[in-house]
Amino acid sequence: MPASCILGTGSYLPERVVTNADLETMIDTTDAWIRERTGIEKRHVVVDGETCCDLAEKASRNALDAAGLQASDIDLILVATTTPDQFFPSTACLLQHRLDAHGCPAFDLQAVCAGFVYALDVADKYIRCGAARHVLVVGAETFSRVLDWTDRSTCVLFGDGAGAVVLGAGDQPGIISSRIYADGAYKDLLQIPGGHGNGRPDEAFVEMKGNEVFRFAVTKLWRLVDETLAANGLSRSDIDWLIPHQANLRIIQATARKLDLPMERVVVTVHEHGNTSSASIPLAFDQAVRDGRIQRGQTLLMEAFGGGFTWGSTLIKY
Ligand code: COA
Repeated sequence: MPASCILGTGSYLPERVVTNADLETMIDTTDAWIRERTGIEKRHVVVDGETCCDLAEKASRNALDAAGLQASDIDLILVATTTPDQFFPSTACLLQHRLDAHGCPAFDLQAVCAGFVYALDVADKYIRCGAARHVLVVGAETFSRVLDWTDRSTCVLFGDGAGAVVLGAGDQPGIISSRIYADGAYKDLLQIPGGHGNGRPDEAFVEMKGNEVFRFAVTKLWRLVDETLAANGLSRSDIDWLIPHQANLRIIQATARKLDLPMERVVVTVHEHGNTSSASIPLAFDQAVRDGRIQRGQTLLMEAFGGGFTWGSTLIKY
């Protein structure tokens, strides 16, 4: 059975930057509060006319270049996003057209901040069963468009961006294990309550019970990390790099403590771009690949948690 190997990574952040100091002029907050509670220093935000597909395209082209492949080599395109350009066509179809790749299946996958690990799970299964040889997996978001910029409890946390990987069928280990979960019983803790679907389009902004989300995330991620290691017969010291969802530095530190991993072996980018939802893991992954921290042959653990609730992990031999 073929394995899903990482052939290339790419990412893109929009040029416009909103710093904590900028937010101080807009809402009742301080740079010190945001840094202390979240670790975030700034976030990138799209400008008028710039869309999720624009970010996805740039990240995808970077990943294809890194993989040494053309878009025509790709036989499945998956875009994890909660903030698509349109209801339909899917952002994956829009992206396919931009890349001038035609005919291969292309679809969006919505699991909020766990979207990228969900999409890796799907891609891995396509590759393992022989249905695809090269899969483009993208996490792309314009969360700035679904924030209430007067709500200080949420608008300071999120940002826009995109990350992508090209997976290829190979005989190297690649993705060793993938675990995804959901529990809709927690739907009210983190949500965008309104939308055209329920006739409440005016309420299409993020709402969150921050404390409860924080507690649940830490508990679930601790259990997830233990399960992932046990299921694969690994011990904590076998992990070279933790690439966590970049939501909050304190949640990342708590997971690293659970793994006994020093923060030097955790890829942290949350200070640079805030929570970019499904884009956050591939953004962090690409940065650490490009700056040479992540090396071939190393063992990587990705973990994510998001609205739904959804959560999951991907274990990779890079
Ligand atoms: N600036 C200044 N004060 C703020 C603020 C802001 N941006 N946002 C909230 N506050 C205030 C609150 O109003 C509250 O004031 P009060 O005590 O007078 O009522 C106080 O800060 C403490 O609020 P609280 O919500 O208890 O803070 P917290 O320590 O839990 O931190 C979060 C808030 C959102 C940073 C934290 O709960 C969190 O990170 N949760 C998880 C969020 C997350 O990761 N979500 C995405 C998952 S994918």
